[in-house]
Amino acid sequence: MMNYIPTSQIHIPEGMIDLGVGDPDFALLPLDMLHRAAEACFAKADPAFLQYGAEQGDGYFRMALAGFLSRGYGFSVDPGTLFVTNGISNALDLICAHFTRPGDTIFVEEPTYFLALRIFADHDLRIVPVQTDENGLVIEALKEKLAEVHPKFLYTVPTFQNPGGYTLSQDRRDKLAQLSQEHDFMIAADEVYHFLNYSDRQVKSFAAYADLETVISLGSFSKILAPALRLGWLQAHPEAIKRLVTSGLLDSGGGLNPFTSAIVRELLEAGDLEKNIARLIAAYRSRLAAMETALRRELPQAEFVTPEGGFFFWVRLPGVDAEQTQQKALEYQVGFRPGVRFSSHTGMGDFIRLCFTFYDEENIDEGIRRLRKCLEFSL
Ligand SMILES: Cc1ncc(COP(=O)(O)O)c(C=O)c1O
Repeated sequence: MMNYIPTSQIHIPEGMIDLGVGDPDFALLPLDMLHRAAEACFAKADPAFLQYGAEQGDGYFRMALAGFLSRGYGFSVDPGTLFVTNGISNALDLICAHFTRPGDTIFVEEPTYFLALRIFADHDLRIVPVQTDENGLVIEALKEKLAEVHPKFLYTVPTFQNPGGYTLSQDRRDKLAQLSQEHDFMIAADEVYHFLNYSDRQVKSFAAYADLETVISLGSFSKILAPALRLGWLQAHPEAIKRLVTSGLLDSGGGLNPFTSAIVRELLEAGDLEKNIARLIAAYRSRLAAMETALRRELPQAEFVTPEGGFFFWVRLPGVDAEQTQQKALEYQVGFRPGVRFSSHTGMGDFIRLCFTFYDEENIDEGIRRLRKCLEFSL
């Protein structure tokens, strides 16, 4: 007998404010926009999108996506350099499958997106962490590691990092791209938060370097439209694209997610993605401000850099064992992700990651109050 019928990956006990959940708010998922796009798609009465898809991804969808990216990046993106994926998780899995062998070494940031570590573990890769600071990956630390070991690729979340919230500086981006050429390793740049920028500062996507054979820029609709679409893209040199397109997986199953691509194409051509992103930025900017205010008021001992985009505050609580406190926090009906989850070698023990996009301002405020009470009794 099934008592509980799951409908999403999120399970939050009744009454709990779980600031550990790193997902979009259900209330902000664009139901009407996708409904309209699906209707427009079906109204064309062309069954082609129900067929096995073109291996690289539907050409019209890639043209519409290239248009969106060109406008957003401020430079021209060629649809021929885009490959449609089931999202970034899938893209990382494909990169591991096609560009690594079990036992190979890869570099990751410390801290890094914890679920990417799970994907790399699936492929039996050896993980070497590289230090970061408030400007992202530390280039000198990378050079030291490169002198010791050759990685197949470096996995980085360069913009509004998960969990750190920080953004790799332009100077470091240039140096990183150059190092990947000199030392012949690939950069898998996970740019899932690139378009969720709440500041006036423009950041150059790694797509700007994607004409290099060593750089792959990964994008996703999960955070700018809806995670359930399981739709994303990668932008890379033709050699890398060829390797993916000629894989057995695509030969047998055709291109990834042609059905959803056709629907999202309508939305892109209508200019709705830009509208949705503007709507999300307005909502998230206000939630970010609410979390910052609450943190400064309730937890003056907390150390953090206010993020300029993305989903997260990465907060250091000196003297606190975050993993132990997580158990205690359940009694106070508040949740967070302990920092150690984002470390590839059990570091970051006094950090917590707090997400400001899943709850509205009122719940964020209440969540941080509960966290203060919990910490008062834990110290
Ligand atoms: C840094 C990072 N990469 C990838 C993902 C997952 O992306 P997708 O839904 O496209 O697989 C997330 C989701 O939280 C993320 O934070």
